[in-house]
Parts: sequence; C-alpha cells; structure tokens
Amino acid sequence: MIVIAIANQKGGVGKTTTAVNLAAALAMRGRRTLLVDLDPQANSSISYLDARALERSMYDVLSNGTTLGEVIQKTPVAKLDIAPSRIALAKLESQLVGELDAHFRLKDRLDAVASRYDFAVIDTPPALGLITVNALVAATHLIIPVQSSYFALEGTDDLLETVEKIRSRPNPNLKLLGAVITLHDKRTTLSRDVRKAIAQVFGDRVFHTTITRSIRLEESPAHKESIFTFAPQSSGANEYYRLCEEVIERV
Ligand SMILES: Nc1ncnc2c1ncn2[C@@H]1O[C@H](COP(=O)(O)OP(=O)(O)OP(=O)(O)O)[C@@H](O)[C@H]1O
Ligand SMILES: [Mg+2]
Repeated sequence: MIVIAIANQKGGVGKTTTAVNLAAALAMRGRRTLLVDLDPQANSSISYLDARALERSMYDVLSNGTTLGEVIQKTPVAKLDIAPSRIALAKLESQLVGELDAHFRLKDRLDAVASRYDFAVIDTPPALGLITVNALVAATHLIIPVQSSYFALEGTDDLLETVEKIRSRPNPNLKLLGAVITLHDKRTTLSRDVRKAIAQVFGDRVFHTTITRSIRLEESPAHKESIFTFAPQSSGANEYYRLCEEVIERV
C-alpha cells in the first residue's frame, strides 16, 4: 500500500481539497483507496459524510483499541473508503503524552489494512504536532500543497526540518513526492514570481500540474461530492485528474 500524507502546517493552503480530490481520482483510476482524515476540523469527512452521525472516528483508532476496520466507511465513489475524523481528535495530543508508541499509532493501524488498499491518502491538520508526525511516520510519500501567494514559503523550513528528523529515525523511507502549487491565479505577475520562488526550494519536485483558483472547487465540499462528479468539465476536475496521473507516474 502506498501511503501519501498531504501536509503543510500553514492553514488554508488546499490540503483537504487536494486529499479529497486526489483520493477520488485514484479511485476513479481503479486504485482501491482509503482517505484518512486526521484533521480535527473533519473537513475531508464532511466532504463525503454527515460527520454528526459518526459514532467512532480516527480519534478512537489512535487513542484506544479501535481498529481502522471499525471506523472505515464507504463513500459514494466506487473503490474509495474513508476513515473519518471528529473534533474529539483535538484531545489526542494530551492523551498520548508519555505513551511510548505515540508516534507509531497510525502506522500500526494502517499496516493492518494494507492488503485491502492500493493507496491511502492522509489529510493532516495545520500544525506540526503529534497528529501530523503520526501521518509522516506512517507515510511512504509526502505531498506538500503550497499556496500560490507572497507568503507561500513561510514555514517551509520548519516543515522540511520535521521531515528530515522523521527520515533520520522512525521512517527513513519517507519520500517527498512533490510540492503542488494551489490556489493559483494565472492573471497576476505575482503568481509567476511565486512559482519561481517555489521552484527554487523544491526544484524538480514541483508537480507540473498547478491547481488554479476556481469557484467550483470551493463549492464542491458543500455538495458532498468530489470535483469529478460535482463539476466534471471544470478546470479543477481537469487539474486534479492530471495531478493524479503525475502521482501514479512518480510513486
Ligand atoms: N483551487 C481552489 N480554488 C478555490 N478555492 C479553493 C481551492 N482550493 C481550496 N479552496 C478553498 O480554500 C479553502 C481552504 O482550502 P482547504 O480546506 O483545502 O485548505 P487546508 O489546507 O486543508 O486548510 P486547513 O489548514 O484549515 O485544514 C477552502 O474553503 C477551500 O474550499
Ligand atoms: Mg484541511
């Protein structure tokens, strides 16, 4: 199973939008895919499910003996399952203090379902705490969404430093699959400069596909659909499809 963590501790850069639509695209390409929502805000879960109706979530999986099998739900997309989150996940950090396996909880649980899926895509919260570390320890690959903005690269050093620490011990095999530029506005010259700056940091790891800013992408979660059914002809659907192609080529 290829496990892709979508991470950037900056808020609102398109992590959830990328996780939801990349997971849907992989499933549409025939890959058995599990979307793991590790953000207490539960935005990925809300994109497919009514989060209030959930009895158990990733919080239970990471804090007690609940298995992933007990929380995984089907989505309306064939071959796409989801392990949902709930706000309770915010309590996790304080609860796992002092637990020796605190960083390995997700990895252990994912290993148990590895034969059922070709891909797992993990949506993470905008922080570099224990939850994101669990994702990076469990992951084989990392995708960093970078918002096309003047402050795009702020905080990237901290993120890459965390990735290096995780590589040096718990997960030497973690690969940076790529940085994807999100919320891009083609019309501005600023965007061109930002692209250059991002390429200076990530070099050939920048995905060729850029995700542009679009109303359709913003609207689709409210309809509990991925962009591929909500607006199949939109630029967002086209771009996330192409990003998926690049991901399949690179892994
Ligand atoms: N390409 C896009 N075009 C237009 N709106 C977008 C696009 N990508 C994301 N958005 C919107 O921008 C907001 C932030 O995106 P998203 O929730 O994916 O970011 P995030 O990194 O997961 O945020 P957080 O750090 O809070 O979890 C959301 O309202 C989302 O619908
Ligand atoms: Mg999010």
